[in-house]
Amino acid sequence: MGLTRKGILLAGGANTRLYPATLAAAKSLLPVYDKPLVYYSLSTLMLAGISDILIITAPEHLDAHRRLLGGGEKWGARFSYLAQPRPRGIADAFIIGKNFIGGAPCALMLADNIFYGGGLAAALKKAAARGSGASVFARQVPDPERFGVVEFDGGGRAVGLEEKPAAPKSSHAVTGCYFYDSEVCAVAAETPPSPRGELEITDVNRVYLQRGELNVQTLGSGTAWFDAGTPDSFADAADFIRGVQNRENLIAASPEEIAWRNGWMDGGALARCGESLGGTRYGKYLQKLASGCGA
Ligand code: DAU
Repeated sequence: MGLTRKGILLAGGANTRLYPATLAAAKSLLPVYDKPLVYYSLSTLMLAGISDILIITAPEHLDAHRRLLGGGEKWGARFSYLAQPRPRGIADAFIIGKNFIGGAPCALMLADNIFYGGGLAAALKKAAARGSGASVFARQVPDPERFGVVEFDGGGRAVGLEEKPAAPKSSHAVTGCYFYDSEVCAVAAETPPSPRGELEITDVNRVYLQRGELNVQTLGSGTAWFDAGTPDSFADAADFIRGVQNRENLIAASPEEIAWRNGWMDGGALARCGESLGGTRYGKYLQKLASGCGA
């Protein structure tokens, strides 16, 4: 049997687009409606069945992330932490995380990406089950020039990838959730910095594309996707989550709920997680799930 897939949550960066909100605080710890932004990306990794997760953040924000998430044991998971001294680019995660990955397949999740939708868990599990190559998710957007963009041929096969192209060849953005085989650290190590001086994740993905080993899965309109990088996208994501939670009477992207459904912790542990959140709606929701009334 192969090594178990590991996860990296990338939560560093300068985040100047959110100044003054991020002058002293980490972006990933700012709330999106009722929970820190990082809960959403952590939930996505956990939904894929990944429990051994490395959190990479700026040195000054390591302690705050540790205070929030701890070692993961209370959720039946394992969280470790490393600093990224400078925002050298997204693919730097594979240089910093090389020893953590230790030759296993892995998934990389950007801490500012939020996914929500019915078919998501199945799509993530399918990508996680693929033993070789890389898998990425594409989503149609009105402003592809802000993202990594994938180009398709007439048969719907991915044939090109460009980072923030001035003239995008499609309206499909590559989202910030990536799955790789054990080759990724070697690929990242050979990736030169881009003209803007960053190790681009799009350059890593292009190597897999050129090898014929990049799987691009398009997410339909049933899956919502937000890249929370600006005050407006933060507000849009918060409005969306508030709407979903009120309409469906649930808590979206609760790592505690996912850990419990994955069988990583029992009902007693889930109830204790709920109790520790005081009398909040979030806490009461976990307690209700644990008592068997909300599943
Ligand atoms: O959200 C999806 C997009 O993410 C992709 O379509 C693009 O291909 C990819 O390059 C990336 O684009 P962004 O412009 O959103 O990247 P940004 O520099 O904002 O970084 C994304 C997150 O990663 C952000 O929360 C900060 C973190 N980060 C970024 C860099 C460059 C780090 O932790 N360290 C870094 O060195």
